[in-house]
Parts: sequence; structure tokens; C-alpha cells
Amino acid sequence: MPYPVGMTRFSKLRAFAACAVLAAAAGCHSTRSADVPAGNAPAAHLVPLPQSMQVEPGELRFAGAVALDADASAPHARRALEDTLAGLGIATRDAAAMRIRLQLGDDATLGDEGYRLVVTDGVLLSARTDIGLLHAVQSLRQLLPARPQAQFRLPRVAIVDTPAYRWRGLSLDVARSFLPVEYLEKTLDRMAFFKLNRLHLHLTDDQGWRIEIKRYPKLVEIGGASAVEGGRSGWYTQDQLKHLVAYAQARGITIVPEVDLPGHTQAALASYNELACDDVTNLAPYAGLEVGFSVLCLDKPEVVYPFVRNVLAEVLAIFPSQEIHVGGDEIKHPLYADFISRTAAMVDDMGRTAIFWEEGSVGEMKPDVLLQFWNDGYDIAAAVEKGHPLVLSPCSYFYIDHGNYAGQPQTYDWCRKEGVPLARLYSFDPTPFKTAVGIEAALWTELVHSDDAADNRLWPRLAASAEVAWTRTPQRGYDGFRQRMAALRPHLDAMGVRYHREPDLGWADAEPRPR
Ligand code: ACM
Repeated sequence: MPYPVGMTRFSKLRAFAACAVLAAAAGCHSTRSADVPAGNAPAAHLVPLPQSMQVEPGELRFAGAVALDADASAPHARRALEDTLAGLGIATRDAAAMRIRLQLGDDATLGDEGYRLVVTDGVLLSARTDIGLLHAVQSLRQLLPARPQAQFRLPRVAIVDTPAYRWRGLSLDVARSFLPVEYLEKTLDRMAFFKLNRLHLHLTDDQGWRIEIKRYPKLVEIGGASAVEGGRSGWYTQDQLKHLVAYAQARGITIVPEVDLPGHTQAALASYNELACDDVTNLAPYAGLEVGFSVLCLDKPEVVYPFVRNVLAEVLAIFPSQEIHVGGDEIKHPLYADFISRTAAMVDDMGRTAIFWEEGSVGEMKPDVLLQFWNDGYDIAAAVEKGHPLVLSPCSYFYIDHGNYAGQPQTYDWCRKEGVPLARLYSFDPTPFKTAVGIEAALWTELVHSDDAADNRLWPRLAASAEVAWTRTPQRGYDGFRQRMAALRPHLDAMGVRYHREPDLGWADAEPRPR
């Protein structure tokens, strides 16, 4: 008989889940640490660490098949669960003894992304939204083994989980060195596994313009053909980007496009020379490593602003993201602040909200415009005072083009000479930033020229970043993270991730794991 994972059982669990929420701060007798297995039951190793998790004695065993009972209004979660089961060789059959239920409800305490996961004699995943259920499915995936087994064992847990921050991101520079669509799909899959929900694509820079703009075809014909020395050139068609948007949405992820303006624009100037001031003589495609030398001719507003508006119109038609990144970094110009103000207003007129790198704080703009904090020492206090929401990417913690360890070949160290090791990234405390909406790790690609190199820089540090953004700071601890993350290595192997063999996780063995 399938165990009816019904309301009675679940209501009881609500009561102890409330206790478990308090447990993080105050202690609660029946709540165990997330890392402690109950008896011989499999341990519940989850990254990011849930807000509360109660582990009861015993385990749930099943083999071969499960019955699936899914709310029709949660298609993405259902697909994610079906993919998970299929990947483990588990069939779905209505008559199976073990039942997994995906249930939408109206528990306001869960917010838009929270969920409950209860393992008794069946599994109940519940949330207010499809995205909440997607996160529940990812937690279930982490509780399950990474590969097919004759028999599956699950710890008996009751999890209640909501994120600390609404923006849990990765910024990927596809402009210096191109990353193919297939790699972005894989990265989205892996991000979803750790409940990350923003992929910020840095689509344009001096070394390349990667997004097709139909009104200005030379942007990709010329700007898409260049790359940083040793890197990859290329560009995405609008159809490819729309496909990626849908692929991401199905995994609970929003793609935030960035067109970096008014600086970092040599690829645009090389494609359309009239965007440069008339006295500019260097209009060649660029493959070097310098920054801060190119700028749209802000003294020709009649040329620049129609260009910006036309480009943004096409960008917005591809990307439904409420937030649209317009760059704004590393340029000094008397008309810079005016550019930021005008562009923020333009994005607002188009029904979206601009986000700029921190330097954009000098613009006159509505307080809902977001700023992305990237220099640890930048004076962001005035912007916080005005109420601007912050995405936190301080380079000495979150610039993961810096080494996994000091002196790692092909990594930068301009922000922190010791690199950005896992423990350093994990130690970040976002709580002093009163208007923070989240965290975003950034992978710049001046020195990252292959998918494998990108994997090495991203993993496992991006998982640590996910926990910093999801789990409340007082609940987190590096030792616990190390244990839980180390235990997820088989999952990374099963996903084919070419991660850095992080000694802190005991992964420093010489041989690559089977894939
Ligand atoms: C940046 O690193 N220039 C945002």
C-alpha cells in the first residue's frame, strides 16, 4: 500500500518545522544538525543548507518505481522530478508502493521560492509556486544518490526552507571569450542544482559583441568575430538566446542580459565607426587586456541615444527579465553621469529596471535602480542611503577569475593577490549591506578560454556562493559546508563537472573521477 502522504502527517510536521526554524537560533531538542545521520540512515547533505531540517530516526527504502502525483500547475517541477527519476533508472507507475507528491498550496510563509520537503513513508514536496517546488526537487535530488542503485534509501527528514536573498547569481563574461550555448545549458542545470536563480550574461565588451541585433548586423559580423588573445570568438542568434531564456525559466532561473555602455565598447565602435567621436583613430577590433579606453561618443547624443534605445528594444524583446544591466563600469567622462541618468530613465520608460555597476551611483535616477557592488573599497553608502538595491559582488570574495589558490596559472590577482579560495568566498557576510538583494559571483574570461577552464573556476566556489546567498549567515559554518559539499562530489561527477580538486573538500586526488 502506498503511504498516503496526507494532511494529517503534514500538519504535524508543520508544528515541528516551526520549532526547527527557531532551532537555528535557539536550539530545539528534537532537531539534529543537518550533517548528523539518524542511526544508519543516509545522511542529509544539502547545499545550500536549508533554513530548518528535522531528521527523524529510520529511513525510507524503495526500489525500481514510484508513483508520481503532481499538481498540474507545476509543470517545471514535474519535469525536473521526472528527469531526476529517469536519470536514476526509477520508473513512474501509479501502482508503485512509494509515492512522491508535488503539491501547490497557499502557505504565505514560504514566499515565492520557499518549499517544504517531508520524507515519511512517502515523499511530499509542497510550495506556493512552481519555482518553490523546483527547489524542493533539487533538495530531493541531493538526498538521493547520484547514480542508479538496486535499492534507494532516503533519510526521514522534514525540511522547511526559504532563501535569505532573492538574487542568487552568476555573472558570466561571454564577451572576452565566447562560451557556447551547450555550455550555458550545462551551467544552468548546475546552477539550478544549487538553487541559484540569476544568470547575468555580460554580452558585450571591447573584445567582442555576442548578441545579434538585427537593426545593426555589423555588431556581430565584425564585433562577434573578435575575442581576447587566445580566447574564442562567436555570437548568439536571437533565437538561440530565446531558447536559453526558456531553458533557464524551466529551471527557475532568470537570464539578466548586460550590454556594457558607454565604455567597454571597442567592438561596437569597430563595427559602427560613427559611434566614436570624430577624432578617434583607433577603430580596430581589440584583443588585448586593457580596460577603460573606449567610449561611445557622448558628445554626439543624436547618434548615441537612438543607438542605445534601438539596441535595448531588441534586448528587451528577447529577455523578459525585469532587470536589465547596462554596465556603466570603468569609464571617466564629463558626460558619464548624464549618460547613466538618461539610460536609467530610458529603461524605466520601457517598463524595466536598470542595473549598473557601482560607478552608476553618480546618476540621477529612481531609487529602484539596482547597483552591482564590485570594488570592496568603493564608497557605496550614499547609494544605500538613497535606497538603491545592491547586488553584492565584491571582487576579493566573488571574482572567481581569481585563483582557487594563490598563484593558480591563468588567473588574475589584481583584486586579491592570494586569489579567492573557497574558504575566503564562504566567509563573506552580506548582512551589513542594508539594501542588499543578493550575491553574484563573477567569472571574467580574459584568461578563461575553454569550457573546462570555466568549470575549474566556477566549481565548487559557485556552490559556496549559492549557500552565502540562500542560507542566513548565523546558520552557516565552513566546517559544515565542507562536509556537505564534499558529499555532493558524486553528483558533480554525474553532471560531468570539471571542478577544481579542492583540498579543503578532500578532492585533491590525482585521478579524475569517472564521469
Ligand atoms: C568590472 O569588474 N569592471 C565590473
